[in-house]
Amino acid sequence: MAEGDARFGAASFQVVDPERIPAKRYYDEDFYRLECERLWPHVWQMACRLEQIPNVGDWIEYSNLGKSVIVVRTQSGVKAFHNACRHRGVQLARGHGNCEVQGFTCPFHGWRWNIEGKNTFVYGRRLFGEGQLDPAELALAPCRSEVQLGCVFINFDDEAPAFREIIGPLADRLDAHNVGQLRAEWWYATVLPANWKTAMEAFMEGFHVMRTHPQLQEILPSLYNGMYAGDAGGAKLSVRENIGAQIEHMVELNRGMAGQIHAKEIEIARQLVDVDLPEDPNQALMTWFSLVQAQITQQLRAKGEPVPDLNAVAVSDPLKAVEFIFPHYFLLSFFSSMASYRIRPLGPESCLFELWSLTFFPEGEEPEPPMAPLMLPYDSDQFPPIPRQDYSNIPEQQIGLHAEGFEFMRLAKDIEGLISNYQRVIDGYLQAAAPERLAKATQALGGNFDGPIVDLGL
Ligand code: FES
Ligand SMILES: [Fe+2]
Repeated sequence: MAEGDARFGAASFQVVDPERIPAKRYYDEDFYRLECERLWPHVWQMACRLEQIPNVGDWIEYSNLGKSVIVVRTQSGVKAFHNACRHRGVQLARGHGNCEVQGFTCPFHGWRWNIEGKNTFVYGRRLFGEGQLDPAELALAPCRSEVQLGCVFINFDDEAPAFREIIGPLADRLDAHNVGQLRAEWWYATVLPANWKTAMEAFMEGFHVMRTHPQLQEILPSLYNGMYAGDAGGAKLSVRENIGAQIEHMVELNRGMAGQIHAKEIEIARQLVDVDLPEDPNQALMTWFSLVQAQITQQLRAKGEPVPDLNAVAVSDPLKAVEFIFPHYFLLSFFSSMASYRIRPLGPESCLFELWSLTFFPEGEEPEPPMAPLMLPYDSDQFPPIPRQDYSNIPEQQIGLHAEGFEFMRLAKDIEGLISNYQRVIDGYLQAAAPERLAKATQALGGNFDGPIVDLGL
């Protein structure tokens, strides 16, 4: 680490003990600046959902930390360009639109580009010196992009390993769940007065359900206490009572999370409340879940939805309740539908937090994609109750991190490990570790929700 320490500089607040995360990482301005310089320009960022640009010429802007990129659907696939006129740098496009016919026109002096980024018009061409109008230099500067998981990801670093080299087997597991065919039902956003990592980490364990989401814990206390308190006791439920509680839990999760579990899936589960089950309570529950998964697969496929074989993928490509695509995108799943969240820093203690509800639709019946999020205050009762409960803690935590004598967070090493692992991958970027090592370490984050601290080889 000695070499890394030197490069890290004075403003390190590096994670030295993996079970202790220095509080200043969440608000120190120099640390934030280091992240802006050494992390964000080198990672794959979720720029848009693919269904937002279905037709040739459709484009949408993505921006983060003052850098803006235009993502365009062209004849030859999706491309991305840095959003700056090649004359004097004015941003060419804001928001979204279609440029198939007219291309992009700079609002300052009217220079133009086609959807492939080729310059098609220079006003006052004769006024420029030789060497200023080389077509290669006038072309819009390309930004790396990859279509993955139903989204377009961009990376400002031309040397960074490809998306799949970094995200690793998790991307294959998500593919097995047909994540690329999910469509957005809605898209909300809010600004949280918290560091982006404080916000991310509120979703890296289920240990907080007992206190933060008591409505879930109350329905299935044995589930949560069994996982976190080492005590699955409580009232013993009959098999039927247990099935009833499972459905109630799903209803609460649907009310609270929308996409993570869909009403149409619960309807199918309800059809199976009286089905014959083994007497052993554990076996009964497993059998019931596999019957529910089989029926969801069968009934939604019959409607034309591209649902995977849920029982098969639960074995071959299991997903945790939350799966993180480093550094700022994650998916929450239960059966076939999902919720997805993306977080962007707005400053050391402010972030933009977005939520999508995702589900499958029969081909040809997909809804119009939302093109901009519905912006709400973070305490708005328009948010589903579960993220609203999470949002109630995050700003309070951000303030508490500043308290005198609060030097570090202490983590439960086998349940809150993802927080430590994430933070140490971030340290890897801040120390400019070799890209292959960073990729290997990042792969270790997949499937680590509620998981242990692991050796990342950094
Ligand atoms: S700055 Fe774009 S045409 Fe002049
Ligand atoms: Fe939560």
